[in-house]
Amino acid sequence: MDAMSDLLYGQESYHRFFSPKAYLNSYYNVDGDTLGNSRLLFKLKHLAKIFTSGKVKGETLIDIGTGPTIYQLLSACEAFSNIIVSDLTEANLEEFNKWLLNKPGAFDWSPVVKYVCHLEGDRVPWEEKEEQLRRAIKQVLKCDVLLSNPTDPVVLPQVDCVLSCACLEAACKEKEDYIAGLNNLSALLKPGGYLVLTGVLESRYYVVGESKFLPFHLTKDFMMETLNRVGFVIESFEWSGEKKEPWEKTAKFLAYYVLVAQKKV
Ligand SMILES: C[S@@+](CC[C@H](N)C(=O)[O-])C[C@H]1O[C@@H](n2cnc3c(N)ncnc32)[C@H](O)[C@@H]1O
Repeated sequence: MDAMSDLLYGQESYHRFFSPKAYLNSYYNVDGDTLGNSRLLFKLKHLAKIFTSGKVKGETLIDIGTGPTIYQLLSACEAFSNIIVSDLTEANLEEFNKWLLNKPGAFDWSPVVKYVCHLEGDRVPWEEKEEQLRRAIKQVLKCDVLLSNPTDPVVLPQVDCVLSCACLEAACKEKEDYIAGLNNLSALLKPGGYLVLTGVLESRYYVVGESKFLPFHLTKDFMMETLNRVGFVIESFEWSGEKKEPWEKTAKFLAYYVLVAQKKV
């Protein structure tokens, strides 16, 4: 198959065509400048605010669809000492493990770690922050957000917080998938627990290496409506507004967002 001319979606496509290295290079090391990425800075800023607010805290957080990235966990480890990461593909988990185990060839997250330390008031040196995150990561699991137990065959006790960044958009094709995916995330969460979602709205495609992926075309109204239907109360919603700057070279979408919702008791 000519992956570039077809829009790819579904589990099989992620297993075959989603290259963790290409993804990191396109979205987290844009032209060699990790921090020259306004979408990343937006997420880091809001995640720092959320996880240092004192409200979203507890023992265990699970990140669903972690991919090969760690940026989303840097502030989370201030509020949760027990972190479980998960992804659909073996390749993403392998890339994540490279960083976790400090192996040669791991992606260099140090500019991002330093930036998050700065956002959090420079309380600890960045090397210490990295170690704090490594210590907090207790499990690295395979998952499929479209399964009623996403971590099958592992059955987890319900957690205090579910984090998921750009995963539902990647995993879903139809509205029914998105509703099912949110229900599955909710099942992982204790009543009263928090769901933290980040992603993009009204996405048309995103490119990873030679492959062009078709994400779910998520609108703000549909997301809000579905969260309510599934049993969440929206706590906060921050978004970039409709993008006026040129599209990112590798992705086309309307806006990006960070959302916090609480599961009804
Ligand atoms: C756009 S990437 C986001 C990665 C990372 N969370 C981030 O913020 O950059 C989408 C991720 O969702 C994962 N994914 C795709 N389908 C999935 C599914 N059905 N269940 C769980 N993860 C899935 C992919 O493997 C990929 O790591």
